[in-house]
Amino acid sequence: MCGIIGYVGDRPCRDILFRGLRKLEYRGYDSAGISVIDDGRFSLLHSVGNLDNLEAILDQLGGDGTMGIAHTRWATHGRPSTENAHPHTDCSGRFAIVLNGIVENYLSLRAELQEEGHTFTSETDAEVVAHLIERAYQGSLQKAVVEAYRLMEGHFTFCAIAVDEPDTIVGIRKETPLVVGVSEGENFLASAIPAFLAETRSVIFPDDGDVVVVRRDGVFIADLDGNPVERPVEGVDWDDEAAEKAGYETFMLKEIHEQPTALADTLTERIGPDGSVALEGLGLDAETIEGLGRIVIVACGTSYHAGLIGKHALERWARLPVEVEVASEFRYRDPVIGPDCLCIAISQSGETADTLAAMRLARQAGARVLAVSNIVGSQATREADGVLFTRAGLEIGVAATKTFISQVLAMLLLGLYLGEKRGHLSRDQVRTYTQELRRVPAMLSDYLEDGAADRVEEVACRYSSASYFMCLGRNIGLPVALEGALKLKEISYVPTEAYAAGEMKHGPIALLEEGSPVLVVATDSRVYDKLISNVQEVRARGARVIAIASEGNESLAEMADEIIYVPRSDEMFAPLFAIVPLQLFAYHVARCRGEKVDQPRNLAKTVTVE
Ligand code: F6R
Repeated sequence: MCGIIGYVGDRPCRDILFRGLRKLEYRGYDSAGISVIDDGRFSLLHSVGNLDNLEAILDQLGGDGTMGIAHTRWATHGRPSTENAHPHTDCSGRFAIVLNGIVENYLSLRAELQEEGHTFTSETDAEVVAHLIERAYQGSLQKAVVEAYRLMEGHFTFCAIAVDEPDTIVGIRKETPLVVGVSEGENFLASAIPAFLAETRSVIFPDDGDVVVVRRDGVFIADLDGNPVERPVEGVDWDDEAAEKAGYETFMLKEIHEQPTALADTLTERIGPDGSVALEGLGLDAETIEGLGRIVIVACGTSYHAGLIGKHALERWARLPVEVEVASEFRYRDPVIGPDCLCIAISQSGETADTLAAMRLARQAGARVLAVSNIVGSQATREADGVLFTRAGLEIGVAATKTFISQVLAMLLLGLYLGEKRGHLSRDQVRTYTQELRRVPAMLSDYLEDGAADRVEEVACRYSSASYFMCLGRNIGLPVALEGALKLKEISYVPTEAYAAGEMKHGPIALLEEGSPVLVVATDSRVYDKLISNVQEVRARGARVIAIASEGNESLAEMADEIIYVPRSDEMFAPLFAIVPLQLFAYHVARCRGEKVDQPRNLAKTVTVE
C-alpha cells in the first residue's frame, strides 16, 4: 500500500525519483506526486490516476533539484484526488512529507492542530504529519520528526524534508517497510528495494523507531533519544524482478505471507476500545438495519467463496436469511428482490463485469447495495450505497490469496456488527469474538514463521503427480474446501473437485480409488464428529486423507495419512487459518509440476468482460 522514494545527491533527481516510482507502482496507483527542493524552495507536482499521468506533466517540475521525495498512492483515507495525493506540506510551505500506512489517531491530532490554527488542504490521515513537524520544528528536522512520531498511533512509514535543510531527508518506520539505499555521494530512502536497485545494491534495513537521517555524504541512524544506532550495510544480489517480490520466488508466495498484514490492516480502527465492531461508510442507518428482511450476496470465483463464509456469519449472528449467488447466474434470473433486501457485492477489484451487472439488477429491483472491495475508487465502490473496504494492498498474483482472507474477515466483522445492531448479540458476546479476532494476525504470522510453509511443501510435493484431488468440508469448512480446490485448479491445472463431505456418498464417492488424495478441512467445529464419519468413508475406499486440523488434535493424526495443523480458534474464525495451508498446498503442487503460478494460463486478474 503506497510507495515512497527519496533521493539526496549531486544529480538532478526528478527523473531518478520518477523511475523509482515506476518500480513501486505495484503498491498503488490511484494518484502520485513528487516534491523537489530547487533554489531554496519546494517544487511540487501531483496527479490523479496512474503514473502515466504524472509522467505527462513531469516537465512542469524544475529539472535541477538534487534532493526530493515522491509517492505513489493506494488510497485509504480520502478519495483519489490531487488534494489527497502526496507529498503533503504544512501551512508555511517549509516542510513536505510522504507517508505509507495509516495514522490511526489522525482525527484527534487534526482537531488539535486545527484548534491551534493549522489549515488542512486534504482529507488524508497523512497531512497531520507535515503540520506536526511544522509545530515541533526548532532548527532540527530530525528532532521534529521524532516529536511527530511520538504522537502518532498506527502503522506507517514517513519521510520528511525541510526547505531550511536542503541536504537532509529524515525517514522513520513503524511496522511498515523502509529501506535505505547507500551509494557514493548520494543516498536513497524507499518502501522497497526495487525503487533504487538500478542505482545501488547496498542496502540498510532500519528497525521500527530508527530515525534515519539521509544526506549526500552519508546515512546517520539514531534512536528516538538521539543516540547513534549501528545498522549494517548489506549487499543484495536480486535482479529487478526478484526485488519486487521482496526475495520471494513469486508474487503469490509473497502475498500468502502478507496475509497477517492484510488482516491487521483490514482490522485497523474497526474494533473499538469497548470491543464493539465499528464499520463506517456502510450506508446503513439503524432503521434500515432493523428493517432488513434478507441479504443476497453476489460475487464471482474466490469472492463468491468469501460470500459463502459471510452467509454463515450473517445467518448465525444477525439472524437474517442469506442467499449467495454466482453473479453471472443471478444477473440473468428474475430474482425476487424488494426494498427490505440488502445486496452485498463482493469484488476485490470492484471491476468484475458480472458482479457489477448483478448489483445494478438488485438495485433496480429496490435493494440497497453494499460493495465489499479492495480498490478505492473502483466502479463497484462508486455505484454502491455503501462500501466496506478490505485493506489487503495491491495483489499481483492472479490467484487471489490475501484479498480472499481480507474479504472473509470483512464478512465476519459485518456479521458481528449487524448481529449487535439487530439485537441478536450482546456487547459482551461481540467483545469475546473481537478479542479473539485481534489476536488472529499475530497468530497467523507466528504460524507462517514457525515453518508451516515447509511442512505443507513437503506434503504437497509428495502428492504433486496426482491426476485428481478431492477436497471435503462441512459447514463453514465447506467454502474453505471450495476455495482450496479453486486454487489447485487455477495454478496446478490438476482436476480437483470440492464437495460437502456429507454429500459425497450421494455420488462423488464413486471417483475414489486406492491412493486418491482427499484434502479434508477438519478443524474443530460443531460438525467435527460428523466429518470424522466422512473421513472413515474415504479411508474405507483406500483413498489417502490429507487433513487440515486444529493444533493438538492427535486422534485425527492416527486416522489421516497426512496431517497439517493450523492454530486452534473459534470455529467461526477457522477459515482464516485453514485456507492458508490449502493455498500453500496448491502453490507447491503447481511449482513441483513446473507451472508458472503468478500468471496461470487463460486467466486474468480482473475480469471486465461478462
Ligand atoms: C481466483 C480469482 C478469481 C476472482 C474473480 C472475482 O483466484 O482471483 O476467481 O475471485 O475473478 O474477482 P473480483 O473479486 O475482482 O470480483
